[in-house]
Amino acid sequence: MSNHHLDTVGYWAEPKLLIVEEYAKASAQVLKDQPFIKHIAYIDAFAGAGTHVSKTTGELIHGSPARALAIRPRFTYHHFIEMEGTRARRLRQTNPQPDVTVCQGDCNEILLGEVFPECRYEDFRRPLPAQDQSARGRRRSRDL
Ligand SMILES: C[S@@+](CC[C@H](N)C(=O)[O-])C[C@H]1O[C@@H](n2cnc3c(N)ncnc32)[C@H](O)[C@@H]1O
Repeated sequence: MSNHHLDTVGYWAEPKLLIVEEYAKASAQVLKDQPFIKHIAYIDAFAGAGTHVSKTTGELIHGSPARALAIRPRFTYHHFIEMEGTRARRLRQTNPQPDVTVCQGDCNEILLGEVFPECRYEDFRRPLPAQDQSARGRRRSRDL
């Protein structure tokens, strides 16, 4: 699998990813402790390819999707959205699990049309949305 389409990330990316991971882990535990909640969805609206190249070491590092998938207790479902085709394909290929969907496209449309309807409050379903935006994504997702 070629790495040319991967993001190269600076030194700030790894602490940021750890914060996202710890926040998701604590949230999963709190939500799982509510017996009336039947479904907890992790939603990554700017998912990336799943892997980044560290600018400091040149090594591959896990992105937010892999970190969310490793959390225990496990989320009931994982929705990953990525606009760029090669990144979305890589993420889909590396995550064939039945509780994972990778949608390619603009999260502004996919969240409203496909993902949020799966997380209805009255069905005792709860989402944990993660929005890790690039500058381009921030402009494009201003209505979220
Ligand atoms: C900073 S990277 C994401 C990194 C990932 N969340 C992580 O931490 O490993 C942002 C990604 O959002 C994607 N993106 C930008 N605008 C988007 C949009 N409107 N909808 C979906 N994806 C978008 C970009 O192609 C890019 O891969």
